[in-house]
Amino acid sequence: MDLWESLEQECKSCSRCGLCRTRTNVVFGVGNPNADIMFIGEGPGEQEDLKGEPFVGPAGKLLDDMMSIIDLDRTKVYIANIVKCRPPGNRDPQQEEQEACVDYLYRQIRLVQPKLIVCLGRIAATRLIRPDFRITREHGTWTQINGIPHTAIYHPSALLRDVTKRPETFDDLLSIREKMKELGI
Ligand code: URA
Repeated sequence: MDLWESLEQECKSCSRCGLCRTRTNVVFGVGNPNADIMFIGEGPGEQEDLKGEPFVGPAGKLLDDMMSIIDLDRTKVYIANIVKCRPPGNRDPQQEEQEACVDYLYRQIRLVQPKLIVCLGRIAATRLIRPDFRITREHGTWTQINGIPHTAIYHPSALLRDVTKRPETFDDLLSIREKMKELGI
């Protein structure tokens, strides 16, 4: 068994936090494990929990549309979440749940070795970029972390709720495309 498979197996039998008691499936991640880009969401919703795959509900459809604007799709990127099990009622994952789970994500990042990371929404940005990251003010900005450029854009669920945020996100996607060019992706 390789490192990726053993990480997936370990994650799928995890009981590090209470979310293991209410989950249907662990949502490990989807996409290309050799991708140059990772997209990181916050945690599975109802449909993701049922299917065991990230971003399969309405937010996922919008994420696919957003990626297609910059010629990306699920075969070219790797998509994962800060927490791998659904928080009941789609509440925000608690700090302790994030802390119990985020090591799986860091291990995924070390194995994928992406050239850039896109955080989807506040939870991913405050966990991966800076605890006081303000998504409304700082979306689309770039921060180098462990040699990897990180940015954050609005979460697709936020863009479903508030379409007025979409033009800013379009600009952020163009900035991601520029960064990709710069990095030879
Ligand atoms: N929202 C997320 O943050 N992640 C998913 O996988 C689905 C919805």
